[in-house]
Amino acid sequence: MAAIKEVTVKELNPQEFIKDKAQEILRAVGSGIAINALSGGVDSSVVTMLGHKALGDRLKTYFIDNGIMREGEPEQIASVFKKLGVNVEIVNARDEFFNALKGIIDPEEKREAITQTFYKKVFGNLVKKSEAKYLLQGTILTDVDETIAGIKRQHNVFEQLGIDPQQAFGYKIIEPLVQLRKDGVRKVAEALALPSSIYNRMPFPGPALSARVIGEATSERIAVVRKATSIVEEELASTKAFQYMAILHQDRATGMRQGKRDFGMQIEVRCWDSIDARQARPTRLGFDVLDKLASRITSEVPGVVSVTYNITTKPPSTMEAV
Ligand code: XMP
Repeated sequence: MAAIKEVTVKELNPQEFIKDKAQEILRAVGSGIAINALSGGVDSSVVTMLGHKALGDRLKTYFIDNGIMREGEPEQIASVFKKLGVNVEIVNARDEFFNALKGIIDPEEKREAITQTFYKKVFGNLVKKSEAKYLLQGTILTDVDETIAGIKRQHNVFEQLGIDPQQAFGYKIIEPLVQLRKDGVRKVAEALALPSSIYNRMPFPGPALSARVIGEATSERIAVVRKATSIVEEELASTKAFQYMAILHQDRATGMRQGKRDFGMQIEVRCWDSIDARQARPTRLGFDVLDKLASRITSEVPGVVSVTYNITTKPPSTMEAV
């Protein structure tokens, strides 16, 4: 396995990078068909635009609605790309994902269940239907690093784990962004004329909200963390922090409502300052902001009786909880 040569943000010439990668994609796919999954994150958005530049209509772009995305996300993203002239087909795969996540508590098993459902089941079917032989995807160098280091098995990294996608899933994977880190990808996104709502978009993990539910990710528990996430994103948008999130804990805590005991759920809020996600510090949020979060989450998300703010740095914490 050849080592990947990093292109730092200082070395990066976005226009040249775009030209080179579009050529590479065209060379690899030839006159065939490729598919890609768009999640709306900056990585998959850049890959979508690069792929359409290289292949035009021969790239089929899908948004996989896995049931664990944020509020209104599939429709929002499809509409942004429609304005850019890219047709995005939304695929409803919610049942497949919730069935695969049933009963799973262990974080790595959760990631593995999502990987298998995504790459084998859902994508396997789409590949058969579309007759594509290639999958374009937005793996970046940090994903590879963390997988190799055994910190978190990123759901989109295979080669470094000794998995041959052709053998395992029946198609080849092309990764045009694997030499870049997040800051480099953002520069390329800007150069591709993606809207700032996309290139300044906060990172969001591949396993989506299931990475923010400690314990089993049922549709009910995902709904709780989805509601809390909307509140956290609304309240913390003005901080311009690298990433902020709500996490649903597995343990319950004793609270009280209307004078009665309520053994309720706990939401943890995290808000990170970081450059490239390798290291991070908690943002020094004002207490008034924290107060507002606690009061909105406990009154707007049914069943939540406790809200905490995480004050740990990465390392030893990681940014996501799962
Ligand atoms: P951690 O939790 O590893 O997160 O400190 C670092 C950055 O990576 C994102 N992240 C993921 N992204 N698949 C992804 O595509 C994953 O499995 C995954 N886990 C974490 C996380 O949101 C943060 O920006």
